[in-house]
Amino acid sequence: MHDSSSTIARLMAETLTGNLSRRQVFRRAAALGVSAPLVSMLMRAGAAAAQESGAANTIPAPDQLADLGLPDLSGKEISIILGADGPVAPWEEAAVQTFSDVTGCKVTRIAGPESATERLAQYQQLLAAQSSDVDVMTIDVIWPGILASHAVDLTDAMKANKSTYFERIVQNNTVNGILVGIPWYTDAGILYYRTDLLEKYGIENPPATWDDLETAAQTIIDGERAENPDFQGFVWQGGAYEGLTCNALEWQVSNGGGVIVEEDLTVSVNNPQAIASFERARGWVGGISPEGVTTYKEEDARGVWQAGNAAFMRNWPYAYSLGQDPDSVIANKFDVTLVPKGDGDGAQHADCLGGWQMMVSKYSKAPEAATELARFMCSAPIQKAFAIDQSRLPTIPDLYDDADILEANPFFGRLKDVFLGGAVARPSTVTADLYNEVSTAYFTAVNEILTGQAEAAPRVEQLAKEIEGIVAEL
Ligand code: GLC
Repeated sequence: MHDSSSTIARLMAETLTGNLSRRQVFRRAAALGVSAPLVSMLMRAGAAAAQESGAANTIPAPDQLADLGLPDLSGKEISIILGADGPVAPWEEAAVQTFSDVTGCKVTRIAGPESATERLAQYQQLLAAQSSDVDVMTIDVIWPGILASHAVDLTDAMKANKSTYFERIVQNNTVNGILVGIPWYTDAGILYYRTDLLEKYGIENPPATWDDLETAAQTIIDGERAENPDFQGFVWQGGAYEGLTCNALEWQVSNGGGVIVEEDLTVSVNNPQAIASFERARGWVGGISPEGVTTYKEEDARGVWQAGNAAFMRNWPYAYSLGQDPDSVIANKFDVTLVPKGDGDGAQHADCLGGWQMMVSKYSKAPEAATELARFMCSAPIQKAFAIDQSRLPTIPDLYDDADILEANPFFGRLKDVFLGGAVARPSTVTADLYNEVSTAYFTAVNEILTGQAEAAPRVEQLAKEIEGIVAEL
């Protein structure tokens, strides 16, 4: 008794420093068998303390980051465009604050738009104006070919981190011999499912095929709607923007329908298996998925899911740590797996490759400080904290064997093959600086099919012609 009560007292004291994440408090309290009301009290106290100290993360303290060899940058001032305002903002603020604490450089964090499509437009505007307002920007894995001419070469900066980064991503980010961005985190589309609801309805395994998903979603809707009219079967990203390109590419590849534009620049999208996959998705709208899904981005889908109002969600790994927050109504009631596959010839699991890099603008007035910040954000200790606190997939393969990372994200180990190279890339390397035109034509067409404005077969035929026209300009 004496032992456990002093351990609890120690936990309490540590919680009150604000240095423990909510998840850590929850786990440790649960391990000690602390009663539920005391656990919630501890977590409330811990959250309040963390908010005050701004430390609800596992970012190492400045004195533990000496190995990075960051220079003294006192007197410098730079700005960085990071994630959208939302759940990741406090973490990012804490990360750049740590950089400031170590180097003396003042950093302003600017939130970027949530939609990758809008964000690219914003960057292109800034860069076309050769604006020095922004020094560092986070760029999508599909943009190196588009933004290369505005980037500082970061080859040496990446080397200075003395970590081995994924070769595939480094290659993706290398254009005309310059490293346009240091890999920050990678991404892959995954299927989230409610383990409690599968069990409740006697569904033994998470769906492996789209047929399985449709059947399971309908069964769960039939049961849940009686009590909860807002309940949805499957939420995903169907709005007319880059996120739909990712979802629809998964549908068509998973049905053996090719990757839109193949390696040899053949435009392959006009094929029966791709068309069938779009027709299938059209059937979800207003059925297992809400009508509104055709306007959804990532956070819209997550909002429904996180409120406990969906059986399945297609999203990126970032939603994992948010769902597991001890305050979340779905904490410990869900898991993740591969995106389902179709039934066409050559059907396979297809999880779209995503991810973000740190680029330094050629127009920065403080390129040295900017480069150090980019390097810092992508360094192993910061990636480790990002993985633990925000379930972001590291771009340093060694980190997939890190026990703390795997404890926070058990699925990193299970889906390692996908994360370490098995995800399906969008055709951004072959279409280079015209990728955004191709993607825009594609998501516009697919969105029209989803909303019923167009019939799949003729619309895809037209889409193929549009993409052929774009590709002819290469
Ligand atoms: C995620 C991915 C990114 C993708 C975007 C689409 O942020 O990491 O690659 O383009 O989602 O919405």
